[in-house]
Amino acid sequence: MTIKKVGIIGCGAMGSGIAQVVLQAGYKVIVQDSGQQFLDTGLKRIKTSLDKLEKKDAITSGKNQEIQNLLSGTIVLEDLSDCDLVIEAVFEEINIKQDVFSSLDSICKKETIFASNTSSLSITQMAAFTNRPSQFVGLHFFNPVPVMQLVEVVKTMSTQAEVLKTILDFAASLGKVSVVAVDTAGFLVNRLLTPFLLDAMQAAENGVASVRDIDAAMKLGCNHAMGPLMLADFIGLDVLYNASSIMFDEYKDSRYASPPILRKMVLSGNFGQKSGKGFYDWSDGRNPVPSTLNN
Ligand code: CAA
Repeated sequence: MTIKKVGIIGCGAMGSGIAQVVLQAGYKVIVQDSGQQFLDTGLKRIKTSLDKLEKKDAITSGKNQEIQNLLSGTIVLEDLSDCDLVIEAVFEEINIKQDVFSSLDSICKKETIFASNTSSLSITQMAAFTNRPSQFVGLHFFNPVPVMQLVEVVKTMSTQAEVLKTILDFAASLGKVSVVAVDTAGFLVNRLLTPFLLDAMQAAENGVASVRDIDAAMKLGCNHAMGPLMLADFIGLDVLYNASSIMFDEYKDSRYASPPILRKMVLSGNFGQKSGKGFYDWSDGRNPVPSTLNN
């Protein structure tokens, strides 16, 4: 199985980051989003990120142009018919994923491999929306995609060994390190990370320490890139709430139960960095200010 052309569905932060690293590895990429405005914003994000690399002398201007020539965008799903691999990175909503994959199944050639960048939904369930479950995997990238080294490759009971190998070789060609997980809620990273983030929220909610001090403790005491509350804001509190609920449903384990503070923040529209407010005030994006929690 040879991958030459890659389709990416969804052009948000994850989709455009994935498109960038796939382009930089020399593949042809077509990005699809449902609306022209979303598509234009996503394509602009990819271009800006590549132009930044050129400004930092990480790539030459010729290379930048060469990379950007490999990129095209569309709002028409049918334009992905000749892709060898399609990576889906749309909202974490199973009904939307079902629409995408059942349409792609009738549009794409029979050899096309399907992958989902979901962080918490069932790969097995998505594979069952198609007539090609043996050619279906999870391909879970981490934000910011161009920076984070890891990709989680998720296999189901039906994933063909040859497909898994093709995807592992593909991930390696992007310069990423893969880990393979079987399809269970949260896979590997979120299964381990989520209880830690929820515990940090609970500590803040219970007044064990301030937001600033909880984050300083883990950042400076354990050498984490970000403290857990800042990381939660960075991931998105709505995303975490949704993911932890899915894991709680599957495992019935209190380690995955959302603390009330998370639920209240999400219901109040405080989603973290993307909405401007969460455990930090992100009004000045470069200098987030820790909140004094008002439970
Ligand atoms: N795109 C491309 N490059 C980016 C970037 C982006 N969105 N954001 C930062 N960078 C680059 C910068 O250009 C910079 O590169 P150089 O060193 O070459 O100049 C480098 O990353 C460091 O950036 P900064 O100096 O601006 O800031 P920093 O040192 O504080 O790093 C960070 C920022 C990379 C985001 C770092 O704080 C970090 O690694 N945080 C943890 C991120 C993390 O854990 N992500 C996983 C979240 S979990 C997930 O995604 C999955 C899920 O299912 C929930």
